[in-house]
Amino acid sequence: MIYTITLNPAMDRTLWIEKIRTDDSNRIKREQRYAGGKGIDVSRVLTTLGTVNKALGFVGGFAGEELEGRLLNEGIACDFVRISGETRTNIVVNETSTGHQTVFNAKGPEIKPYELMQMIHKVEKVESPEIVAISGSLPPGVNPEIYRKVIEIFRGRGSKVILDTDGDALKTGLNGLPDVIKPNIHELERLTGRKLHGREETVAAAKALRRQGADTVLVSMGAEGILMIAEKEQYLASPPKVRVENTIGAGDSAIAGFIYGLSRGEPLRTALVYAVAAGTATTLKPGTALCRREDFLRLVPKIAVTPIE
Ligand SMILES: Nc1ncnc2c1ncn2[C@@H]1O[C@H](COP(=O)(O)OP(=O)(O)OP(=O)(O)O)[C@@H](O)[C@H]1O
Ligand SMILES: [Mg+2]
Repeated sequence: MIYTITLNPAMDRTLWIEKIRTDDSNRIKREQRYAGGKGIDVSRVLTTLGTVNKALGFVGGFAGEELEGRLLNEGIACDFVRISGETRTNIVVNETSTGHQTVFNAKGPEIKPYELMQMIHKVEKVESPEIVAISGSLPPGVNPEIYRKVIEIFRGRGSKVILDTDGDALKTGLNGLPDVIKPNIHELERLTGRKLHGREETVAAAKALRRQGADTVLVSMGAEGILMIAEKEQYLASPPKVRVENTIGAGDSAIAGFIYGLSRGEPLRTALVYAVAAGTATTLKPGTALCRREDFLRLVPKIAVTPIE
């Protein structure tokens, strides 16, 4: 089984308002709700590609019930740990007269120590974990050590683990020796502690991370595609030029594409092509919509792979 883990999922509530008037009341023209979270988006794209998987994470309160109910309706399998706090709700305000978008991110509920342990116990006993994707930020107050611990448990159970997070969570998670990490260029710079100029410095930084314990490093670079530094091979896979609608979820889709390849027993090079195709397919869709299978399949033969020195 393939699992995704989202420790800090969110309900995203998007509002459309003609023009924001401060110190006044504003009429909402339209609103929409979406069960969000980076691992959850990986699960969505895997499901779109026909890869059976299960989403793990914390949910609580009314918003947590709504999140799970929405996933159920979308056909996304999940197995959440219930918490006493309330799942966060992020608010996105679209001003229709100007096209401006303002996002309010909630920090998320406090996770009690015993709830954290319930997650650990779940991870210790979920059925045959073959591939696991751990994505996104940590809820407030949860020590980044949780990522190291979860990675060690899954690795001990023979799973391949992919970690996609940022900052301390990534730094600490790396100590659990994940099989794959997928920093974007900014995350790579934060991890390395310096600005990276040009391809050579990026490759050198990715190689240094391999030495720190991640077997395969995928550096995602937006429209430039993904740089893969693996044990025996290194490639740059680039997408064709496309008309981008919205890049939200592109990185998560790339993770799903990579897992799709691994789960079919394809070589790393093919999984890399699938990662780029899925990421780019997602950029063709507006708003929070993710990749369509047709777009993914159409893009696969158009991804250019070049070996790098
Ligand atoms: N402007 C673009 N044009 C074409 N493809 C893109 C573009 N932006 C992203 N992609 C595709 O999506 C992949 C992942 O995108 P990106 O590097 O932006 O990840 P990310 O920063 O982790 O994104 P996220 O915000 O979802 O975490 C890219 O490698 C590429 O295949
Ligand atoms: Mg990302």
